[in-house]
Amino acid sequence: MRGWARFFFFEACAWELLAFRARVRFKRNPLFNSFMELCIIGSGYVGLVSGACFAEVGHHVVCVDNDQRKVDMLQRGEIPIYEPGLEELVQRNVAAKRLRFTNSIAEGVDHGQIVFIAVPTPPQADGSVDLTYIERVAREIAGVLKPGQYRVVVDKSTVPVKTGEKVEATIRRYNHSAELDVVSNPEFLREGCAVPDLMHPDRIVIGSSSQRATDLMKRVYEPFQAPILVTDVNSAELIKHAANSFLSLKISYINAVSAICEASGADVEMVADGIGMDKRIGRNFLNAGLGYGGSCFPKDVKAFIAIAEELGVPFHLLKEVERINISQMERFLKKVREALWVLRDKRVAVWGLSFKPDTDDVRNSVAIELINKLAAEGALVTAYDPKGMGKALEYKLLAPTVRLASSPVEAVAGAEALLLATEWKEFACQDFAAVKAAMHTPLLFDGRNLLNPGTMRGMGFVYYGVGRP
Ligand code: UDX
Repeated sequence: MRGWARFFFFEACAWELLAFRARVRFKRNPLFNSFMELCIIGSGYVGLVSGACFAEVGHHVVCVDNDQRKVDMLQRGEIPIYEPGLEELVQRNVAAKRLRFTNSIAEGVDHGQIVFIAVPTPPQADGSVDLTYIERVAREIAGVLKPGQYRVVVDKSTVPVKTGEKVEATIRRYNHSAELDVVSNPEFLREGCAVPDLMHPDRIVIGSSSQRATDLMKRVYEPFQAPILVTDVNSAELIKHAANSFLSLKISYINAVSAICEASGADVEMVADGIGMDKRIGRNFLNAGLGYGGSCFPKDVKAFIAIAEELGVPFHLLKEVERINISQMERFLKKVREALWVLRDKRVAVWGLSFKPDTDDVRNSVAIELINKLAAEGALVTAYDPKGMGKALEYKLLAPTVRLASSPVEAVAGAEALLLATEWKEFACQDFAAVKAAMHTPLLFDGRNLLNPGTMRGMGFVYYGVGRP
């Protein structure tokens, strides 16, 4: 085994070992001689990965979803999303009978003393959070809670501050005898590395005003051996929006610096290294590129702006974060236009559709936005992505003129420019001599600074990065 194969093999082994150690710890710890029974409502990214990881450490988990087709698929061990390591985890735990799926909230709530809510909280037109699904689940829980049946209802979805209060009031309004505590437990997993993020979190945040609920939540998380921060419910809810907005701010900051680098001839990668070596700042999330996308950052920044506005404390800084994110794409397109002049009828290849590597998630993907902007100007775009093409077609996200290729090299055939929009490792390992030979003209626009400019230029490419000479 060589190269990446060797790397992935050892990475998989390391995960196995860590999961095994977590299971052993769980069994050996005298405080945890019994597993916990958990219910998770919503089998999307957060719900499904949480359910699988809770089961992996020994808890008995029932995941509820109102989509019967999805429930059947999951029960068979088929995963509707691409997430490294998740399929094995689900299959193993379904087989071990620690994990099962149902469409019945009654069954889930009856099973789990702790009921996690992990349903979508999509944005509304004005950027504020649509809490329809959360409210509906709260009513449904109220409808199935039996007298004397104490439950901890946990908000895992990203929700505006004070949602916990509303969830509790709603359940009590529809069920006067309900015995419950409502807790906020935001999830910080990233797509593409959701399983390791959940198995080895930096911290667990538990927002609770009840000692009984806090103790139960600590028992759920004890096997993960991560630092636990207990706060009040409002603070826990705020932590999630504040964290995601801060990370978006960090990205916009380095992207703004990349514009200054381009104007001055400095190299943003070196600047980011120099800043990031300061422990107070850190190197993570200082990668300049086409800007942030995905189903969290754009939505959460907008939501935090709306939340602050509603509370009467406008958050102008975050509006600037959004503005920089948009302008980053425009600066990149300007470079493409300057090189190709008119885009109409030009053959352009784009590598990348997913919003980031190691996921098939194409929602709010900057790559897709880029492709559609090129197509709108008349460019003949051929795109390739290792995992995202199926979902891009299924959700009809691409302009009708866009073609998809079956390999990176096929995508560049006859192209006058190659644009790299998502930093999949696969793209860095291409045979660039073959890539260049297949292209009409070797213009290379690296929107994620994945490739080495010197190497690419040495091979004859005209290389353009983001914020680097
Ligand atoms: C994010 C948060 O990281 C996670 O804690 C939260 O639970 C959900 O939202 P995710 O959206 O899966 O996770 O991806 P992430 O890796 O954070 O990247 C978000 C976007 O930022 C991507 O479009 C990525 O390309 C971009 N990004 C990230 C940069 O442009 N530069 C960076 O340095 C890092």
